[in-house]
Amino acid sequence: MSLLFSPLTIRDTTFPNRLWVAAMCQYSAVDGVVNDWHHVHLAQFASGGAGAIISEATAVVPEGRISPEDAGLWNDDQVAAWAPITRSIRERGSVPGVQLAHAGRKASTYRPWADAQGSVPLTDGGWRAEAPSAVAYEGFAEPVAMTRERVAEVVSAFAAAARRAVAAGFEVLEIHAAHGYLIHEFLSPLSNERTDEYGGSLENRARLVLDIVRAIRAEVGGSVPVFVRFSATDSAPGGLVADDVAQVAAWAEEAGADLFDVSTSGLVAHQSIDVFPGYQVPHAAVVKKAVAAPVGAVGIITSGEQGEQILQAGGADVILAAREWLRDPHFGLRAATELGESASVWPEQYVRARRTPAS
Ligand SMILES: Cc1cc2nc3c(=O)[nH]c(=O)nc-3n(C[C@H](O)[C@H](O)[C@H](O)COP(=O)(O)O)c2cc1C
Repeated sequence: MSLLFSPLTIRDTTFPNRLWVAAMCQYSAVDGVVNDWHHVHLAQFASGGAGAIISEATAVVPEGRISPEDAGLWNDDQVAAWAPITRSIRERGSVPGVQLAHAGRKASTYRPWADAQGSVPLTDGGWRAEAPSAVAYEGFAEPVAMTRERVAEVVSAFAAAARRAVAAGFEVLEIHAAHGYLIHEFLSPLSNERTDEYGGSLENRARLVLDIVRAIRAEVGGSVPVFVRFSATDSAPGGLVADDVAQVAAWAEEAGADLFDVSTSGLVAHQSIDVFPGYQVPHAAVVKKAVAAPVGAVGIITSGEQGEQILQAGGADVILAAREWLRDPHFGLRAATELGESASVWPEQYVRARRTPAS
């Protein structure tokens, strides 16, 4: 049996395989409420053989949306809208997960295909972004530095959103601590200039993510897997490097996190990244050395054989992919065929299209 199509159990959840869908914003919700677009978009990956589907960055407070069209989990209307989607994913044999997020200083921006770009002004439905310090992302509006009381409110909002996510049927919760959004902004010395217990040393800069892991774990109990997505490097001078993030992952594991989904970058516009197939796998391998928990690799992984090689080399335990699922929503079925695993992965309804040695 391939590693890619081996099951994995974390706490009370068994994932049928290790080829998962990474979170992808659709910028198509209204007042944070998801709709039929999200339903078809996410459920198709379950039919396509995904072992888990991490739904898009979903804001825990309205101010935490990247764009006004982002999904949310700060009220019960949003729970009701997610519920049929998680049911569809589960009925198709996959595991529904959600990425809980706050966009920090990168909040209130136009969606990628809007005519205007950058910060949405208050006059066009935008809001003032909040961040650890009043340090803007290059080209965006200056954020408000959060008070300690506001930091505590946001920690509670993550826990409340986690409770709502479980009520909506999500079986995995991923904390978005990557890509230059709020939690990453606290972690990085390039965006965190605080002088209180949330700034300064790595331990202090990691306090927010650890508070959130503990608050979510206390809220949802011991059965629900809680993942953290990190950017393992800022790809910029003076920023975070993989060893820093590996240390934070080890602390997060002690605090109750179960898996680390290792991405990179997104904190500053002047980042410099060398992008090639599997370019972030070496970062996952650094984090993996620091923790006992499983680690996910992501970034230009586009075939079953490539995913299998990464797992066989021992640098990661699961593969997450994003754009390949958009190009081919049945990526999982194709990967299973490549690895000789199609019999167990293809839905019965699709068997007549399966390539077999005889056809
Ligand atoms: C349309 C789109 C939306 C994305 N939205 C998110 C998101 O909500 N949260 C996140 O952590 N990453 C997001 N990403 C990044 C992906 O999860 C992934 O890390 C990245 O695309 C690299 O993987 P790939 O080469 O398989 O696409 C997004 C990527 C795309 C293409």
